[in-house]
Amino acid sequence: MKGIILAGGKGTRLYPMTKVISKQLLPIYDKPMIYYPLSVLLLADISEILIISTPQDIESYERLLGNGESLGIRIEYKIQKEPRGLADAFIIGEEFIGSDNVCLILGDNIFYGQFFTSFLESARENHEGATIFGYPVKSPNEFGVVEFDQDNNVLSIEEKPEKPKSNYAVPGLYFYDKNVVEIAKSVKPSKRGELEITSINTEYLKRGMLKVVLMGRGMAWLDTGSPEGLLNAAEYVETIQARQGFYISCIEEIAWRKGFITLEQLKELGKEMDKTDYGKYILSLVEEHRK
Ligand code: G1P
Repeated sequence: MKGIILAGGKGTRLYPMTKVISKQLLPIYDKPMIYYPLSVLLLADISEILIISTPQDIESYERLLGNGESLGIRIEYKIQKEPRGLADAFIIGEEFIGSDNVCLILGDNIFYGQFFTSFLESARENHEGATIFGYPVKSPNEFGVVEFDQDNNVLSIEEKPEKPKSNYAVPGLYFYDKNVVEIAKSVKPSKRGELEITSINTEYLKRGMLKVVLMGRGMAWLDTGSPEGLLNAAEYVETIQARQGFYISCIEEIAWRKGFITLEQLKELGKEMDKTDYGKYILSLVEEHRK
């Protein structure tokens, strides 16, 4: 399975913070925002990843993550010239996807929770059709909204509806079979002029191939769309890390635990950052493992 991180957009809703910095590079407490979605792909055992960003920002991502070698994975980069919508990721990524299944995650989506890895595993195992998630929120009208029956069969899915049919938002994490590329190409721009991911999901729904997995209150899906949301997300990460001593979305740790890199390689990565708590955390993992 391939993975795509979409880290485009102008970030205008966070101006002036994002005037010269790509939104998905802003820090969430102690690491760049994109580390969080990247860690989700690693947890889903995905080691071939495409990062899509704007012409002016793509180089920053390349400088940050390189070709992925140091994490034992492969990272490619592609430009999205205009913010044409989420579905555009599959058109841009056509060659990269080839005939594989693909997981798309938005570069500004942060997930955390105990059973998250099992959600990811079950979504991966669903080889045909699409798997999306539903997450209860207070203001669903700001998102894609999924309506379902008692057996979790999807009844409808709507993009930012004025009158939401449920309080379940669709987070920016989607698993698709290889048909997604053809479907994306047939999508027509919406009223806001974008190729909506919701249109892709609607097509899978029509084909009877859309599965929704509901995330409960034990999961955190954090908002990064406003200064307040950014601060809350940073505080959340700081609180959990300080309390438990485990780091959230430490990509080096996950790459090691997944077997993408060796303990020696992990140590080297830690050494590069040994002045920070982040680097010290990595080195402490090495020490503990050797005990
Ligand atoms: C996009 C999708 C929406 C989804 C949301 C998740 O919204 O269009 O369906 O719920 O991401 O973050 P946008 O960020 O483009 O407003």
